[in-house]
Amino acid sequence: MRFRCTHACMRLLITAGPTREPIDPVRFLSNRSSGKMGYAIAEAALEAGDEVILVSGPVSIAAPPRARLVSVVTSDEMFEAVHANLAGVDLAVLCAAVADFKPARCEPRKIKKSAGAPRLDLVPTRDILASLGAMRPRNFFLAGFAAETNDVAENAQKKLREKGCDAIVANDVSRGDLGFESDENELSVFIPYQPRIVLPKASKRELAGALLIILKNSQEKS
Ligand code: C5P
Repeated sequence: MRFRCTHACMRLLITAGPTREPIDPVRFLSNRSSGKMGYAIAEAALEAGDEVILVSGPVSIAAPPRARLVSVVTSDEMFEAVHANLAGVDLAVLCAAVADFKPARCEPRKIKKSAGAPRLDLVPTRDILASLGAMRPRNFFLAGFAAETNDVAENAQKKLREKGCDAIVANDVSRGDLGFESDENELSVFIPYQPRIVLPKASKRELAGALLIILKNSQEKS
């Protein structure tokens, strides 16, 4: 790719993977995130000489050996872990597919099938990206991801405004050949007052390297 890295080393905080929101001791709500995109960003950053704190939900891939891995399960654990690891961070890339809703309560015992189909009351999870976007002062560049199935540009711009972040990286998850679980992706980077930057279909690892350079360039200018 045509991007070249000339930046000083940074401390990055990256979130990756899904979260699991428990219904009872054996069941949970989750999503199809594999963690591959976030882990690829962690690898690219380590290769560039950066320090990486990787806050990860449950995934079946290995973390890069030199990353400081903070393993979490639920959205609440991810929220706490992110806020507890912000010291000295220059760039935060929130790539995790955090559940948007969680069960209002987790039953202490397994729900019995014989009791009939249970009613599941859901409540919104805390939005980690928005909580960082609202921090004042905030001494790090903040990038979020947006997995969209339609109106990608419009939704990404809305997310930039609503979540108060410095960049939104959007991917179209309606395409079967890309995104979730795939080794490839295609990204569009939205930064306020800048034209959209499209990173065409490539391996997640290649995209991660190019994306980091774009985010670091923007961080330097901000
Ligand atoms: O609103 P939406 O879930 O589409 O936003 C996606 C972005 O917000 C991602 O960067 C994701 O990591 C972040 N997010 C979060 N906390 C949530 C939901 C999403 O940090 N509860």
